[in-house]
Amino acid sequence: MSDVTTGFVATAAAAPSKPSSVVGNDVILKIEKVCKTFATVERVVHALDRVSLEVRRGEFISLVGISGCGKTTLLRIVDGLESPDSGGLWLDGVKLEGVSREMSYVFQDINLLPWRSVVENVALGLEVRGVPKAERRERAMEVLDMVGLAAVAKSPPYTLSGGMQQRVGVARALAVRPKVLLMDEPFGQLDNFTREALQVEIANLWAKLGTTIMFVTHDVDEAIFLSDRIGLFQPGPGRLTEVLDVDLPRPRTDYDVRAHPRAIELRAYITEHLRGARGPVQ
Ligand SMILES: Nc1ncnc2c1ncn2[C@@H]1O[C@H](COP(=O)(O)OP(=O)(O)O)[C@@H](O)[C@H]1O
Ligand SMILES: [Mg+2]
Repeated sequence: MSDVTTGFVATAAAAPSKPSSVVGNDVILKIEKVCKTFATVERVVHALDRVSLEVRRGEFISLVGISGCGKTTLLRIVDGLESPDSGGLWLDGVKLEGVSREMSYVFQDINLLPWRSVVENVALGLEVRGVPKAERRERAMEVLDMVGLAAVAKSPPYTLSGGMQQRVGVARALAVRPKVLLMDEPFGQLDNFTREALQVEIANLWAKLGTTIMFVTHDVDEAIFLSDRIGLFQPGPGRLTEVLDVDLPRPRTDYDVRAHPRAIELRAYITEHLRGARGPVQ
């Protein structure tokens, strides 16, 4: 591992934890000492300071932290939309430079093209990657079926509810069969009921497909419900200070995760961290 530790186990007065997930320690994405500064006319922002993380193949890892601590910047760097000032990233041992075709990104803001049907929106990433038309359609329909939207494939996206539109966004990202799926507060704009339904859907999809997912949220319960591990960010400068194992049994749809004593313990610890009551683990 890098200089990031599983600090919760070491520091919290809790029962020793062991990873509950089926994923091994095989690293798919290595992020090493990534720094990023933004200079504007008025100020210099240290968005990321030496962020190191090893993402394991097939895991669901969430990044949690208050607004402005660099979570989106890290995801954008992983996707190649921004480049780091220093440090590096490796996907399956290959250094990442520029936009990667191996990742896909689900934005908070769904951004579906209104003049294209649902299925044409889902096929977009495949088009960019030069996949032939017939195969594009077949693959787009396959993922639409997976997210339960095959029946509205020909509809324009604006005729769908917010939750359905976000599922189209997820389908679009999955259609390219990414090595790592990046999700940046994907359910942030949805009402609580839709959000909870989508959390269950994404948990089921992840279990079925085995895709590695990096997920940004500021909703602690969402992170606990979905994740194998949770990375905690601190602001000013943006740092990843701890990575916690979420040692709760799966499938988590079988019981009330929120009421589980370990979930309560994790929530309390993370909330305290978010309030800035704890400094980084040395
Ligand atoms: N393109 C940019 N230009 C200037 N500042 C930026 C830019 N992108 C992000 N920042 C700043 O970097 C910091 C981290 O931003 P961000 O990664 O969006 O945080 P988060 O996603 O955790 O809310 C913030 O202070 C933000 O204002
Ligand atoms: Mg953000």
